[in-house]
Amino acid sequence: MKNKDLSVTSPELRVKSPDSPDDLIALLSKKVVGQSAAMKHIVPYVHMFQSGLSPEGRPAGVFLLLGLTGTGKTRTVEAIAEVLHGNAKNLLKIDCGEFQMEHEVAKLIGSPPGYLGHRETQPMLSQQQVDTVASPNCPLSLVLFDEIEKAAPSLTRLLLGILDRAKLRLGDNTTVDFEKSLIFFTSNLGAREMIREINPDIGFQGRLQRPSADLASRMEGIALAAVRKRFSPEFINRIDAVVTYHPLDSVSLATILDQNIAELQNHVNTRLGARCFHLEALPESLAFLLKKGTSEEYGARELKRTIHRELTQPLATLVAAGSIPPGSRVMVSLSQDQTSLVITAIAGGAAYKRRPLSILIVDDNKDLLLFLEQLMKKAGWEVLTAPSAEKAREVFARSTPSTVLLDYVLGTEDGVTLGLQIQLMAGYTDVIIMTGGELAPEEEMICRERDMPILRKPFLDVDVLNIIRSRSHKAAARSAS
Ligand SMILES: Nc1ncnc2c1ncn2[C@@H]1O[C@H](COP(=O)(O)OP(=O)(O)O)[C@@H](O)[C@H]1O
Ligand SMILES: [Mg+2]
Repeated sequence: MKNKDLSVTSPELRVKSPDSPDDLIALLSKKVVGQSAAMKHIVPYVHMFQSGLSPEGRPAGVFLLLGLTGTGKTRTVEAIAEVLHGNAKNLLKIDCGEFQMEHEVAKLIGSPPGYLGHRETQPMLSQQQVDTVASPNCPLSLVLFDEIEKAAPSLTRLLLGILDRAKLRLGDNTTVDFEKSLIFFTSNLGAREMIREINPDIGFQGRLQRPSADLASRMEGIALAAVRKRFSPEFINRIDAVVTYHPLDSVSLATILDQNIAELQNHVNTRLGARCFHLEALPESLAFLLKKGTSEEYGARELKRTIHRELTQPLATLVAAGSIPPGSRVMVSLSQDQTSLVITAIAGGAAYKRRPLSILIVDDNKDLLLFLEQLMKKAGWEVLTAPSAEKAREVFARSTPSTVLLDYVLGTEDGVTLGLQIQLMAGYTDVIIMTGGELAPEEEMICRERDMPILRKPFLDVDVLNIIRSRSHKAAARSAS
């Protein structure tokens, strides 16, 4: 059983867990990018437990998470642990790869008294282990059987008892109770066929687009067929929800890249303390990492590996060599031949030129457009405007501003769709939507998932400035040059 040290406790975890299912779905969807459909399956079981309505005599929820490698299956369980318990490590994780042989299963449940080594074998699935991963905030234990397809058949038989009666009998004849547990199984069964299935769809165009509903249902079919081949109907029937994870599209990967760079900065701040510095990754370096880190086969894992190899390791070498003065700005750009990143430290006091921040404002209401244009110019921004979605795409392609402010109603088009198109062109653009009316719930969900805040009319000039400024520290890092 290994706990990966993937995430740090984030600030929102110190508050109590969110009350409404929608809040919890939104919070988890920020941590596990592009998989809100999966969260919608899981979250109701958490709420059922919290409201005391979980059925007795069985686990509070049993989930089978399917899909390609590196799409966030394991991360999902860690993210739930972060939200419920304040720490990604508060989960009992069984790496099924360690239990491929029948005799290894004894490590899980311990051997019967009298057997050789009985006293030494502390079962991994003891009541105490299950209880210690719950927390004072929340008595729900998360139990993860990772990569279940690797488990020996006797392990799957053992699990049947847990799923059926929420009980497991250990070698010493005591029982472990799983009534206050959510049980997760992950598997990438069918992955090879899935890749074959998406490949014809993935030309240059396909890679940029969200998986179509049709592709998503074909993937689900493949995953389920593979699961039916491997596991018995009794086992499958005891699962509350089978969830297939989507392959990650380029917008999701860009968001994950942003998160990883923010995490790296965080790490620099906490580990180096007074010797910390400020990382500024220029757009071309982000585009380079994204391009190199995109892989159908390994999903976000490839992106993380690429960031590690191209950025984190060279940066660590520079830090170790003392080449980065404390307090400096560390610019990450692209080499002339565009084959690697260049890391340049600019000492704290050194002069450097900063391009003004640029914003594209799109609204078919001329008066409001003029008002916003003047407001942002006064605030020192370089302002571009467009009266229609069509014009906006043209202007954006030409000037790639760091921020765009989009009215929801744009003739026959709408701001949310345009915002998504813009994120597809440049995933690191800050998109803000203005609206005078209500958005459809799906659109609200898209905005949350894609991190596009909604500015509701009527608003004051300070509202506009606040929302733009609150996001522009990110943009500032990118446009400094
Ligand atoms: N949807 C996602 N959102 C954010 N990070 C992700 C996502 N998918 C994968 N990752 C990152 O990639 C790595 C591998 O993800 P993991 O959840 O272990 O993949 P798997 O689907 O194979 O279980 C993790 O470090 C995780 O942080
Ligand atoms: Mg995994």
